[in-house]
Amino acid sequence: MANLLVLGTQWGDEGKGKIVDLLTPAFDVVARYQGGHNAGHTVYVGGNKVVLHLIPSGILRAGTLCVIGNGLVLAPPAFFREVADLEARGVEAGPDRLAVSRGAHLIMPWHPIVERLSEERRGEKRIGTTCRGIGPAYEDKAARLGVRAGDLADLGVLREKIEDNLAAKNPVLRASGLPPLDAAAVLEEYAGWAAKLVPYLRDVPELLHERMARGDRVLFEGAQGALLDVDHGTYPFVTSSNPTAGGAATGLGVGPRTIHGVLGITKAYTTRVGAGPFPTELRDETGRRIAARGDEFGASTGRPRRCGWFDAVAVRYACRTNGVDRIALTKPDVLAGLEEVPVCTGYRYKGEKLGSFPVESWVLEKAVPEYRVLRGWPDGALGGAADFDALPPAFVEYVRVLEGLVETRVGVVSTGVAREDTLLIDAEIGGLVDLARLRAASD
Ligand code: GDP
Ligand code: IMO
Ligand code: MG
Repeated sequence: MANLLVLGTQWGDEGKGKIVDLLTPAFDVVARYQGGHNAGHTVYVGGNKVVLHLIPSGILRAGTLCVIGNGLVLAPPAFFREVADLEARGVEAGPDRLAVSRGAHLIMPWHPIVERLSEERRGEKRIGTTCRGIGPAYEDKAARLGVRAGDLADLGVLREKIEDNLAAKNPVLRASGLPPLDAAAVLEEYAGWAAKLVPYLRDVPELLHERMARGDRVLFEGAQGALLDVDHGTYPFVTSSNPTAGGAATGLGVGPRTIHGVLGITKAYTTRVGAGPFPTELRDETGRRIAARGDEFGASTGRPRRCGWFDAVAVRYACRTNGVDRIALTKPDVLAGLEEVPVCTGYRYKGEKLGSFPVESWVLEKAVPEYRVLRGWPDGALGGAADFDALPPAFVEYVRVLEGLVETRVGVVSTGVAREDTLLIDAEIGGLVDLARLRAASD
């Protein structure tokens, strides 16, 4: 195996950041392919918490080239805030370590404004977006109005695009009683960003092709999760990009056969931020207990995450739509100490059994989960296990049942926030990751 795709199989926040950081030493390049600074990927290094939003989580490992693909939407102020934060921590994040695709779309000052208006207009039906301008930037991409990072190289082109955009956006702002944006002021601001961002711009498909041709290994890093995918998620309660596997090829300009394996990051329970159907949601004391123990607050917005039991119907769907080879199971330590741990094995809708995960949100909203109740495992019993069989039998049983239900093997078990709180099940993950290289680099 050479190149690995790491993606979320639920509604985001599965622990992708931790696992990407952990596996990065086995790769030369870490490349993100979609989303923007709506993501929040938390990594603990030596007890210090680092939250990455736009920059790949591989940046914390020296020597790795990190790539931001054409599939992302990039807000220059957010990008440079993150660069400054990393550099203040002694992490180099200049153009030698970080490449930005010329095809990445820019989040412009009107995008968050238009998004807030849209969320307000929806009222009760709002999506609960991060209001960072992500959705409107993708809307403009599809509308063929978008401003791309490569346009920063020519201020004449940039001016024209800003003027064309404001001709469409200012009437909307005025109609909502908001002041119009001034093209000259936006141009001045973005000319400032251009001077700083242009040195990072690269032809990413060419760069990745060259790196792979010389034998470098690439880790493709997904943000959000499969169930937030604009095509395969719980539409319309989704993000506006494709976190699913196909997004890696379109979002970076690589062929599908450059992806040699897919690791699905899966939380041992379920969480969701923002609105949308969530069949296994716990609105009771148990839900609050899981939220508190799991520190389930949005890494980007600080909003409390909704919590619920593991949903095997949803994760099996995600494993199928992404061709997941192995699962990295995260946060089972959070469930430790519970007497019983229910797992959702199916849904009923209007009394009938549903054969699979419904693509209509309004069906999922009314789906009634069916549970199989498993035994819990004791508090504090997961840490420090050297191999899988040394884990508590009730937990091993939980993993085996999950594997059967989602029809995918577990290759990694994460039992805490730190790099060392991780068990790599060699026989399962060995085909996806060069373990000898990983261990040599981590020593
Ligand atoms: P991401 O968006 O998928 O990268 O996930 P987030 O970083 O938003 O959320 C995952 C949270 O769980 C972070 O705070 C991680 O530090 C934490 N985390 C990751 N793996 C584990 C684990 O195995 N156990 C516990 N208790 N926390 C974990
Ligand atoms: P990571 O990468 C969890 C959710 C928002 C909202 C919906 C649309 O950390 O897993 P958007 O601003 O993207 O248009 O909002 O998607 N959302 C996330 N939820 N983790 C994320 O990223 C998310 N990124 C977006 O809460 O419901
Ligand atoms: Mg997150």
